[in-house]
Amino acid sequence: MCGIVGAVAQRNIVSVLIEGLRRLEYRGYDSCGVAVLGENGPRRARSVARVADLDEQVHEGHFDGITGIAHTRWATHGAPVTDNAHPIFSKDALALVHNGIIENYETLREMLRGKGYEFVSQTDTEVIAHLIHSVYRGDLFAAVREAIAQLHGAYAIAVLHKDQPHTVVGARQGSPLVVGLGNGENFLASDALALAGSTERFIFLEEGDVCELSLDGVRIVDRDGNEAQREVRQVAAYGGAVELGPYRHFMQKEIFEQPRAITDTIPQADSFDPSIFGEDAGKVFAEIDSLLILACGTSYYSGLTAKYWLESIAKIPTQVEIASEYRYRESVPNPKSLVVVISQSGETADTLAALKHAQSLGHKHTLAVCNVGTSAMVRQTELSFLTHAGREIGVASTKAFTTQLVALFVLAATLAKLRGHLSDEQEAGYLKQLRHLPAALNSVLALEPQIIAWSEEFSRKEHALFLGRGLHYPIALEGALKLKEISYIHAEAYPAGELKHGPLALVTEAMPVVTVAPNDALLEKLKSNIQEVRARGGELYVFADADTKIVNDEGLHVIRMPEHYGLLSPILHVVPLQLLAYHTACARGTDVDKPRNLAKSVTVE
Ligand code: AGP
Repeated sequence: MCGIVGAVAQRNIVSVLIEGLRRLEYRGYDSCGVAVLGENGPRRARSVARVADLDEQVHEGHFDGITGIAHTRWATHGAPVTDNAHPIFSKDALALVHNGIIENYETLREMLRGKGYEFVSQTDTEVIAHLIHSVYRGDLFAAVREAIAQLHGAYAIAVLHKDQPHTVVGARQGSPLVVGLGNGENFLASDALALAGSTERFIFLEEGDVCELSLDGVRIVDRDGNEAQREVRQVAAYGGAVELGPYRHFMQKEIFEQPRAITDTIPQADSFDPSIFGEDAGKVFAEIDSLLILACGTSYYSGLTAKYWLESIAKIPTQVEIASEYRYRESVPNPKSLVVVISQSGETADTLAALKHAQSLGHKHTLAVCNVGTSAMVRQTELSFLTHAGREIGVASTKAFTTQLVALFVLAATLAKLRGHLSDEQEAGYLKQLRHLPAALNSVLALEPQIIAWSEEFSRKEHALFLGRGLHYPIALEGALKLKEISYIHAEAYPAGELKHGPLALVTEAMPVVTVAPNDALLEKLKSNIQEVRARGGELYVFADADTKIVNDEGLHVIRMPEHYGLLSPILHVVPLQLLAYHTACARGTDVDKPRNLAKSVTVE
C-alpha cells in the first residue's frame, strides 16, 4: 500500500529517501517516485518499476538535495502509470505525496479548473497539490492548514515548496504519519520502519495534526489549530532489513518461523493472568458480558476461530464481524461488550475505523491483538496483547495468523478462569499444550515434501473447494484465502455440512476438494461428507489426524497429521494449507511475496 518518506537535513537526503522506500516495498506498490528541492525548484524521478529502478534514475541524474519527499503508490484513482505516480507537482513550484483517498476530489477539481489549474493525472491527489498551491501566500504550513479544511476523506501528506527550501509540511487524517527526530535534521514517514537507520526517536502524529519540519525542529498543531506537544517515543525495534536466509520467499521463511513466533508469543507465567492484557484488564474483564470481535481478512478468520474457544471454554457470548461491514451498518451497541480488534499491522483502515465507530457508539472497553506495538490500534485501545511474530514481509499472512490464534486462546482461557469455568487441572493442561505447540508444529512442517507432491497437481487446476467443520471451518476459509491470494486459483471454503445445500453441484474430477479432518466430535459427520464427494467422482485431498483412521483410497489422497491436538488443533491444521498454497503458487510461477493487486498493510478504505 502507499508509503511516504520525507526529510529535511544538512546533507544530501536522496539515499535516506530511497532507503525509506526500500523498507516500505514489502507492503506492495505499483509505482514510486522521489522529489528533491534544487535551486530551480523541485526535481523528481518516477518509476512504474521497482524502487531499484528509481535508485538508478536518481544516480544517473545526479539527484542532490537537502529537502525531499518520496512515495510508493498503490493505485486507487488512476492506473499505475508514470503520470499518476507521486510526487505530484503544482505549477512546478510545489511537490506533494499522499496516502489515502479524497472523496470530494471531483468537486474540488472543477473548482480548481475554474481557477486555471490544469490536471495532468487521473489521481485524486492532484487536487490537494493544486489546492495548497492556490492558497499559498508565502507560508506553506498555513496553506496546508487552509487547504485540508476543504478535504473530505482520508489522507497523510507530505509537501514541499520551492520558496521554502528547508521545510517539509505533513498532515494526517485517517492515514498514519510519523515524525522522526534527528540532530539538525528531521524526517517524516507513513511508518517508523521507513526511518530505521536514520533515527530512533519518533512522534506518532494524531488525527488532524499538521506538522512543519525544519532543520532545527518540528512544529505541530492539532485539528483545532492549537500548538500540540506530542510524546516522543524511543523505538529501537526496527533493525536492519530482514534477511531471506536459505528460503526462496519470505512467505516460506515465515511459515517455518512459526514455532519460534509462537514460543515468543506464549506468556511466560504459569497461570492465565489478566495482567498480560494490561494493568486494568482484571477490572475490565470482570465488567464485560460479551465480546465483539472486529477484523479483516486473515485476522477476521482468527476471530472466527476464537469465537468457538470463547463460547465453549469461557462461556461468553461472542460476535465476530468484518470490520468494513460493521462500520457502515446500524448495530445495537452493548457498553458491557469488550470490543476486540485483531490486526497484524495495527494500521488497517477498515479495522481502525470500525474501532472508532464502536467507541463512538459508547463501547468503552477495547482490546487490540496486534503484532506492532507502536501501531495506531494499540495506541487507541484500552488493553492490548502483542503477538511476537516478528516482521511479516509476505503479503500472505502466516505467522501473524497462528500467533493471533495463540493470543486469542490465551484470552479465552483467561476469561474462562475469571468466570469460574476453568479448573486448576484444565489450566495446567492448556498451558502444557501451549508450551508443546512449537514442537508439534515442527512435526507438521516436516510434511512439506508430501505437500509439494500435491501442489504439482493443484497448480494445473483453476478451482478448488475447501471443507472444514466447527472449529476448523475458519481454517478451511483461511486455506482457501491463502490459495486464491498467491496462486490466483479460485478457491471457496464451506462448512462440510453445507455441501449438499449447493456447492456439491460443482464437484467433478476437475475440482479438488481439500478437507481439514481433525479427530474431533464432528469426525463421523465429516466422514459422511467425504463420502458424498467420492460418490460424485470428486478428488479429495485430506489432512487427517493420525488417529482418524482415514486412509488413502481411490479418489482419496491423505496426508497424515500428528494425533489430534484438542482445542489447539486449528493452529496445527492451518500450516499444511499455508504450505499447499505456497508450493502451488511456486509451481505456477506467481509473485508469492507480492501477489498482484494486493498490499501488505491496507491503509485505505
Ligand atoms: C492475509 O493473507 C491478507 N493479506 C489480508 O487478508 C490481511 O489479513 C488483512 O488485510 C488484514 O490485515 P491486518 O491483519 O494487518 O489488519
